[in-house]
Amino acid sequence: MKALVLAGGSGTRLRPFSHSLPKQLIPVANRAVLSYVLGNVHAAGVTDVGIIVSNGAEAIRQALGDGADHGLRLTYLTQPQPLGLAHAVRVARPFLGVDDFVVYLGDNMLADGIAETVARFRRDRPAAHLVVQKVADPRAFGVVELDAQARVRRLVEKPPEPRSDLALVGVYVFTAALHAAVDAITPSARGELELTDAVQWLVDRGADVRADEYAGFWKDVGTVADVLECNRYVLGGQRGRIDGRVDTHSTIGPGVVVETGARVVRSRIQGPAIVGAGALVEDSLLGPHTAVGAGCRVQGSEVADSVLLDGASVTAVLRLAGSILGRGAVVTGGGSAGHRLVLGDHGAVTLDP
Ligand code: TTP
Repeated sequence: MKALVLAGGSGTRLRPFSHSLPKQLIPVANRAVLSYVLGNVHAAGVTDVGIIVSNGAEAIRQALGDGADHGLRLTYLTQPQPLGLAHAVRVARPFLGVDDFVVYLGDNMLADGIAETVARFRRDRPAAHLVVQKVADPRAFGVVELDAQARVRRLVEKPPEPRSDLALVGVYVFTAALHAAVDAITPSARGELELTDAVQWLVDRGADVRADEYAGFWKDVGTVADVLECNRYVLGGQRGRIDGRVDTHSTIGPGVVVETGARVVRSRIQGPAIVGAGALVEDSLLGPHTAVGAGCRVQGSEVADSVLLDGASVTAVLRLAGSILGRGAVVTGGGSAGHRLVLGDHGAVTLDP
């Protein structure tokens, strides 16, 4: 079995970050989303992995290399334009050959991994095995209708009036039967070759298409709010660890990680939180639910429920919350109430005192 990780796309909902960093490399608790994805693929026993890349190809290559760090063999596959998930499968066809394969959307966080899903597929080997989860408002998702035996009857992409509350999770397992389906379909109203249309094509021809409900945490990092939610969730599950230096005037709560080379000086850190390698937190109140990237500086400030990408700095800001600061972004001043900032790489903001 092979895996196909989709890390192309345009990431328009995650601008400005996606202008300079593919959204699949956005850090959640200081680790790129793609790293969690590859970890889950490896844990499911799949090591031969194709990765679809487009604009952000170079950054992804730099981050993942040949995959050896994750115990995988990575093959980079270029999708010149984001023409849809089924188009990505077409691009990958020479790599996939006749093998069974997992399709894993590279912006999806699945906290409990995918090993069980892959094991189910291996046991029953249907033409397609989908993963679904109940959501409160299915209108923004691919929606799946099942029969009494959990066989898939119908898939609809973002229906205005959903007939089920089962949303399609970004992990699928297929036999090579999918290739005929992706060849047969035509672009949807939004101009993309939809994977849901390809799966529906299989259903319409009587193929065995099944679905399992995913019980664990699942979210894609499509928007700023999603990134913050993933960050809260992953930090919430971490165990505290101090590898850096904490002075005697600081207090560190439970669930706080201070990475190697980081310094905490005259500060209070409320867990869960993480302070990245080489970062400095000084005269500050940090957390909960805050991830401070490598080389960041937080001085004389309060920061909660936020993600600071590598090299960002926050100085003399009374309170920053619900924020994401891009790499090397600079925020200074701001003595009043609270601020929520979404600031791209190398952005700079000075707040009035
Ligand atoms: P989406 O989030 O559906 O699309 P997008 O990345 O273009 O984002 P936005 O809607 O904000 O513009 O994509 C899901 C995953 O699949 C994501 O990891 C990107 C990837 N993808 C491809 O690799 N190729 C494609 O043609 C598309 C549409 C997505």
